[in-house]
Amino acid sequence: MDTAPRPVISATGLFTPEESISNEELVASFNAYVERFNAANAAAIEAGEVRPLEPSSVEFIEKASGIKSRHVMAKAPVLDPEIMAPRWEERADEDLSILAEIGVAAARDALARAGREARDVDAVLCAASNMQRPYPAMAIEIQQALGIDGFAFDMNVACSSATFGIQTAADYIRAGHARSVLVVSPEITSGHLNWRDRASHFIFGDVATAVLVEEADLAPTAHWDILGTRLKTVFSNNIRNNFGFLNRAHPDTADTPDKLFVQEGRKVFKEVVPMVAQMIVDEAGRLGIDPQALRRLWLHQANAGMNRLIAQRVLGHEASADESPTVLDTYGNTSSAGSIIAFHLHSADLREGDTGLICSFGAGYSAGTVFVRKAG
Ligand code: COA
Repeated sequence: MDTAPRPVISATGLFTPEESISNEELVASFNAYVERFNAANAAAIEAGEVRPLEPSSVEFIEKASGIKSRHVMAKAPVLDPEIMAPRWEERADEDLSILAEIGVAAARDALARAGREARDVDAVLCAASNMQRPYPAMAIEIQQALGIDGFAFDMNVACSSATFGIQTAADYIRAGHARSVLVVSPEITSGHLNWRDRASHFIFGDVATAVLVEEADLAPTAHWDILGTRLKTVFSNNIRNNFGFLNRAHPDTADTPDKLFVQEGRKVFKEVVPMVAQMIVDEAGRLGIDPQALRRLWLHQANAGMNRLIAQRVLGHEASADESPTVLDTYGNTSSAGSIIAFHLHSADLREGDTGLICSFGAGYSAGTVFVRKAG
């Protein structure tokens, strides 16, 4: 008999910023920027030396992505055509960092839902694509703020950070290195989004999620058994961000647009959909699960069309909103947090024995699957 500790998800937590930007507000701000740019460069545009900027449109954004609004930590500066970036007071090193603050809020929510005290947790993984600084690790700051005695570290696998974090936490539990692990994904994506780029200015939103992964013996009666996890990476330049400390080595290009998020969205769409659909079906086969019998898919939230296609290939029919819930309409793409928000907001109604899938995919490329079954 296998006596290795069995990892489960005890609870999840969510922090949602109060402020939200609608597509209408976003497009009005972007188009004001475009008008100002074209007016300021009228002579050069006329002479053919500068290309005029083209306006954005609400219709395009909704049709191409399914996004209608997104939450942000600071709305006014993002919408100010003179700024188009987040702005807030720099905090002293002694004060809690803003990224840690929202991570702590999500973590506290997860702990409260599990009926767990922070002192019972052994480890914190800050699994996110947008770290505020290289060190000290955001995870250690979150650990300290929560009062956890143990270990913590950061891990960045872009949009798949949370599922990679869940597998890492599950492996610590299986190996007996920890009994209770918090996987925290604070994503302040508004800092790396180029709000002046027509092709991507509508994509991202800010949020934080937390997943409490624990040994089954410790978990509350109502929890989610982790049936299996699988990770995959395939190198691609189609989603890239060249920001880093080595930018100092070539100061002339330190502020070029590739130091923010850039992507070939159409290529990503075409390449990632078949890769992820196949990965899900293969992993379901390995676990002896009929993919068509999955009760719900909590997919990465980047594009409604991608999710429609992936869900169809996995389930064998067009998925209903109940089978593949969407949160990107109001949250936008929240990077690693997307599939966890979907799970957090759309899992309470499932019954004991129902099986579902948390699945992420994104830059790297990276993809992760976590098959879960409701218990208790
Ligand atoms: N407003 C109006 N028109 C726009 C626009 C905007 N904001 N942005 C682009 N367009 C235009 C383009 O100029 C192009 O016009 P053309 O056909 O005349 O050349 C047309 O719309 C199509 O542009 P394209 O960039 O090919 O759009 P798309 O249909 O591929 O949608 C994405 C763009 C980003 C929404 C989509 O590709 C996507 O979501 N891909 C997946 C990305 C993903 O998962 N990334 C993971 C990130 S973590």
